[in-house]
Amino acid sequence: MKNIIVLGAQWGDEGKGKVVDIYSEFADTVARSTGGNNAGHTLVVRGEKFIFHLIPSGILHAGKKCVVANGVVVDPKVLLAEIDKLKSRNYLKDDSQLKVGHLAHIILPYHIALDRAREEKLGSRKIGTTARGIGPCYEDKIARIGIRACDLAEPDTFSEMLRANLELKNFLLKHYYGAEEIDFPSTRDEYLSYGERIRPYLIDTSLFLNEEINRGAKVLFEGAQGTLLDIDHGTYPFVTSSNTTAGGLCTGSGVAPTKIGGVIGVAKAYITRVGAGPFPTELFGDEGQQIRDRGCEYGSTTGRPRRCGWFDVPVVRYADRLNALTGIALTKLDVLSGLPRLHVCVAYEIDGVRREDVPLILSEFERAVPVYEQMEGWKEDLSDAREFGDLPKAAQKYVRRLEELTGVEASLVSVGADRNQTIIRKNPFRA
Ligand code: GDP
Ligand code: IMO
Ligand code: MG
Repeated sequence: MKNIIVLGAQWGDEGKGKVVDIYSEFADTVARSTGGNNAGHTLVVRGEKFIFHLIPSGILHAGKKCVVANGVVVDPKVLLAEIDKLKSRNYLKDDSQLKVGHLAHIILPYHIALDRAREEKLGSRKIGTTARGIGPCYEDKIARIGIRACDLAEPDTFSEMLRANLELKNFLLKHYYGAEEIDFPSTRDEYLSYGERIRPYLIDTSLFLNEEINRGAKVLFEGAQGTLLDIDHGTYPFVTSSNTTAGGLCTGSGVAPTKIGGVIGVAKAYITRVGAGPFPTELFGDEGQQIRDRGCEYGSTTGRPRRCGWFDVPVVRYADRLNALTGIALTKLDVLSGLPRLHVCVAYEIDGVRREDVPLILSEFERAVPVYEQMEGWKEDLSDAREFGDLPKAAQKYVRRLEELTGVEASLVSVGADRNQTIIRKNPFRA
């Protein structure tokens, strides 16, 4: 069964967009089913850069169906801007290439305003969200007051729901946060016009995906964020508001776990994190800055500098436990060229006691001191390597050691941002 999940095995921004773009060639349909436009997935194709926040990274492959399934929280303004941009660059010529879940929840201006106001109020304890309204939108979904794409497409239903929600949200904004209220008539008119434009893309995406699978099509599921940002299993409260792990992708797409044939965890050859929260291997000096500069580690969504650190084995082993990884796509190996010695965190010490698991009690994780194994670096530029054997011996040894320590094989090694700067060691659609 060749339906494959690609998800982040660290704290996000691992290079999922690039990996999904590569695997899309072998799939028929590509689906996103978690998160929203907090995601920023960058692809570079023959030097041309694309950043997607909502639309699956398979969209550049003509003829591949792309699905934004109902687990995604959709900001209609962002979706339409992405559609317009693609069309202006001569992609998405056939609108039937894109399907949007009619049950997907919609991000409205009060979600964004509440996200911002809450972060401001938290001050130094803030989470460092992307301020895109993701948390407040998922909260409304769970509270059963969310507005879905199918509601947005029905003017009377939408107006009624918006009016009721604004009564509560404006009370909170004005009286609790001291923030500006959201105007009802202008919001209604603006969003109804978005609803009108989105209506042609709306379908039952669970039905569509299952029909695709039943007819033998290969589906690629594109994860967003990373395992350690999962609402249940991540470094709570410094997480996002959805399940970023494999089970979340199944729920979000309405495709059963037994239909999935493999899970590829994308991991950088080091690790990064944006926003606040514990990060044991974080580098604060020159080495961290060198990785940030060489790896262009600035957020695709918010432009914030990403925190950079050494590869953390317990984190990826934890991602393997939660997702049962069938392979790792190891990205950005090229970025480590020129660092004389590499460090790999193999365990933590907490209050003098060695731990090999990720301690999910925040105060413990905050006290975790990494136990490092050191490895020799390499000087060579890796960006032209296309076979594993093209890599310098020290780089090969580094990859093999990560495989041993994580217990998962590196089925893909990425040596540059461009689509072709990739070593495919095993193709999950053919394995
Ligand atoms: P995503 O959110 O997981 O899709 O990752 P992002 O797109 O936010 O961040 C990954 C960044 O690294 C993007 O700018 C990619 O173009 C870039 N990238 C991906 N793979 C590689 C690689 O192997 N080497 C280098 N140098 N850059 C890469
Ligand atoms: P992709 O798909 C990295 C982080 C934010 C913040 C926390 C909560 O590009 O890998 P939110 O706006 O979701 O409420 O923010 O989660 N975060 C990400 N970090 N990559 C992402 O997505 C992220 N999406 C959310 O920085 O720490
Ligand atoms: Mg990203």
